[in-house]
Amino acid sequence: MMHIIPSLLSKEQVRQARHALDKAAWTDGRVSAGHQALSAKHNQQLDQDDPASQQISDFILQQLGGNPRFMATALPLKVFPPRFNRYQVGGHYHNHIDSAVLSVPGTPHRVRGDMSATLFLCEPEEYDGGELIIEDSYGNHNVKLAAGDMVLYPGSSLHRVTPVTRGVRLASFFWIQSMIRQDSQRSILLNLDDAIQALTAKVPEDPALAQLTGVYHNLLRQWSST
Ligand code: NI
Repeated sequence: MMHIIPSLLSKEQVRQARHALDKAAWTDGRVSAGHQALSAKHNQQLDQDDPASQQISDFILQQLGGNPRFMATALPLKVFPPRFNRYQVGGHYHNHIDSAVLSVPGTPHRVRGDMSATLFLCEPEEYDGGELIIEDSYGNHNVKLAAGDMVLYPGSSLHRVTPVTRGVRLASFFWIQSMIRQDSQRSILLNLDDAIQALTAKVPEDPALAQLTGVYHNLLRQWSST
């Protein structure tokens, strides 16, 4: 399933991030593409060693850890340090599926990409085209979010970015290894969590609520790997 996490960054935080990113040295995005994605990718990226990239990447990781909606949706075990890309006029990315396992550069760590994430850093009015199109069993989803909003989608999904025809599209992208590998199980847990939250607001004293919360934790115990 696809999920939107609204306002992961505030407008002020986006402004500060963009200020730093605008001054950074951007390179051809094909250096980080896998063999199959190489001919598909036409954008620019920031080197992970770039100081602006590192600083904003750390800040995004911090925001993710403090965002209850992200934590409930992704049930994250590991997050690949956020990277950044920029599409200028003509920039696009053909249909592809992201690599299954990603090595974190400069470390022995690997992250399985259970979920892919795109955090939008430009307002939709600032550019034409540049839509993220995600294909799933329910059809195609066209995603173009407000600056600071993020989309999460299964790493197994085919997706593409349509050509930018005006302006510049700036975004952060990364991957999440979840404690729950299966998308379907993660969806069940999120539905259950949402129901528990709603009941907690309405009938906090009801003993059935403690029972339901127990079911949530027992499913998490059965399905999670840590
Ligand atoms: Ni991709």
